[in-house]
Amino acid sequence: MTPNKLIKKGSNFLKKNKIKSYIIDTELLISSVSGKSREKFLLNSNLKMNQTQIRSFNNLIIRRALRKEPIAYLTNKKEFWSMNFNVCKDVLIPRPETEILVEKVVRLFKDRNPFILDIGTGSGCIIISLLQELKSSKGVALDISSKALKVAMKNSNIYNTSKRIKFVNASISNFDSFKFDLIVSNPPYIARHQLKNLDIGIKKFEPKLALDGGNDGLDVMRKVIYKSRKILKNNGMLAIEIGNGQYRKVSQILKLNKFKEKFLIHDYKDNIRCILSVLNHY
Ligand SMILES: C[S@@+](CC[C@H](N)C(=O)[O-])C[C@H]1O[C@@H](n2cnc3c(N)ncnc32)[C@H](O)[C@@H]1O
Repeated sequence: MTPNKLIKKGSNFLKKNKIKSYIIDTELLISSVSGKSREKFLLNSNLKMNQTQIRSFNNLIIRRALRKEPIAYLTNKKEFWSMNFNVCKDVLIPRPETEILVEKVVRLFKDRNPFILDIGTGSGCIIISLLQELKSSKGVALDISSKALKVAMKNSNIYNTSKRIKFVNASISNFDSFKFDLIVSNPPYIARHQLKNLDIGIKKFEPKLALDGGNDGLDVMRKVIYKSRKILKNNGMLAIEIGNGQYRKVSQILKLNKFKEKFLIHDYKDNIRCILSVLNHY
């Protein structure tokens, strides 16, 4: 069967099983099993695939259609900040919303060399993207999950930032070693009772440790803010990503911990998604 026919058959099967992104998903899967870019397939209908590749492709289509496995876990890749991050079920799949935080921080710090802490680094997408842009910066990538940290290390090797990142496997509550110019964090922020309402692909496959923010979704957020107060240098900045509708509560926690909000960043749906604040010593 030619790749074109395979794409047609695969995408029809996904469509029948109510996968909205059936065309792009099929193209990503065929590209993943063949090791050739999507563009190559689209431009050249004569490309050949061997029997093993066809079997793998069919298998992935079935996992996507019937088990609703996220495409990023099937291809083990997710694009973020124009880089291709390795991902697996041990890390959250990087989200486009988080690029908004990276963009703002890069703009603010582009002529400086901040010493950065990334709390809950997951795949390492935030700190690796920041260090790609801020070439003389160094940082610490912290995660309570040792499996996630392994993925972050692999990504940082690929993107040549491993000499500038120290990886620490600990909870933020037990971390006190350094003082930082900039702390970034996208902590787990889904309220526990809402986990059951998430899309099936998220609740079934993404790590609970990366999603579950406790009773009101803010358990880890509180720890991040409380600890940041202690380990930020004077004039240091805390940049956090928050969930929908959490602004008022997080703002109160920041105020209680002597932070002064400097920037609020809205996402593509106009929700307040990131808060950047500084310690207010006065
Ligand atoms: C929402 S994910 C964010 C991953 C990545 N930074 C991103 O933006 O895609 C949150 C991460 O925080 C980690 N985490 C959860 N509780 C933590 C804690 N108490 N201390 C440090 N890391 C924690 C999880 O293991 C997970 O990797």
